[in-house]
Amino acid sequence: MKILHIPVLCDEIIENLYIHNKTTNIIDCTLGEGGMSEEILSTIEDVYIFGIDTDSSILNIAKERLSKYKNIDLINENYINLSKNKKINKDIHNIIFDLGLSNYHLRNSNKGFSFDSNNILDMRFDESENLTAHQIINQYNKKELLTIFKEYADFPINSNTNKFIEYIVQKRPIDTCENLKKICLNFYRNLPYNKAIQNITRIFQAIRIEVNNEFENIKKGLENAFNVIEPKGRILAITYHSGEDRIVKNIFREYKSNNNIEKKFKLINKKVIKPTFKEQKTNSSSRSAKLRIIERVI
Ligand SMILES: C[S@@+](CC[C@H](N)C(=O)[O-])C[C@H]1O[C@@H](n2cnc3c(N)ncnc32)[C@H](O)[C@@H]1O
Repeated sequence: MKILHIPVLCDEIIENLYIHNKTTNIIDCTLGEGGMSEEILSTIEDVYIFGIDTDSSILNIAKERLSKYKNIDLINENYINLSKNKKINKDIHNIIFDLGLSNYHLRNSNKGFSFDSNNILDMRFDESENLTAHQIINQYNKKELLTIFKEYADFPINSNTNKFIEYIVQKRPIDTCENLKKICLNFYRNLPYNKAIQNITRIFQAIRIEVNNEFENIKKGLENAFNVIEPKGRILAITYHSGEDRIVKNIFREYKSNNNIEKKFKLINKKVIKPTFKEQKTNSSSRSAKLRIIERVI
């Protein structure tokens, strides 16, 4: 078993958990290879974790890695269903979201997440879902492509973006990651190489977000989390790009200022928590990470 993902902001997550005076129950909504959960299991004495991941292949890796722990339950599920899942049968004191994808997806999943691979464009975390990256890039019309590049990768609506989309449509069919990367590099040939690669990274990101319905899932997942968290409990969310962070920030603000007398929430950190310089240096995937935490007061 080769572990590829180094968990991000782990110390900061552990320091900010609500520790219950009996067992501290946690939902790790994005278990991945289980790095974050393993740190928690080995640091906090009396803890129970429900570890969720929608990708069954990465969950199998976590299963092997965490097999020595009896106080974790692994659940192959989309976190949008966390409040309905019958296995989650304890009071919940902390809910963690470590959003986005794992290094496992980029380097080992063969599902076409990385533009440095020659896999078929797929990008589904959950392979039972229907929509693939291949369908998006080959079947979406120009308006639909413009929407996802704008909404999920902050591409400006201007003539250059329109020309890029026109170019993609002319080059169809596009089957593999390598194929798509070459087409993009050709379109951006007048840009410095690192700028072109930045654009390609954002294009792959936009397609992945659309395939996995990620923005809608974050909204639904957080709504569920607000429903199940116990008083004094905390929701902790790590984001990796502006689109994700905007959603978390807005939903946290909304809950903080709502006037529901039965449930009140307060923000734990007014400013986002970022990885230390040392963490950013040792784990480049952590560079863009931002942690936001909210607590249910009553
Ligand atoms: C950044 S990784 C988590 C890494 C993990 N914290 C660790 O330490 O290894 C994000 C994980 O969330 C999973 N994921 C993405 N969307 C999901 C969803 N809607 N429901 C459940 N899991 C999801 C992905 O499959 C991926 O494994």
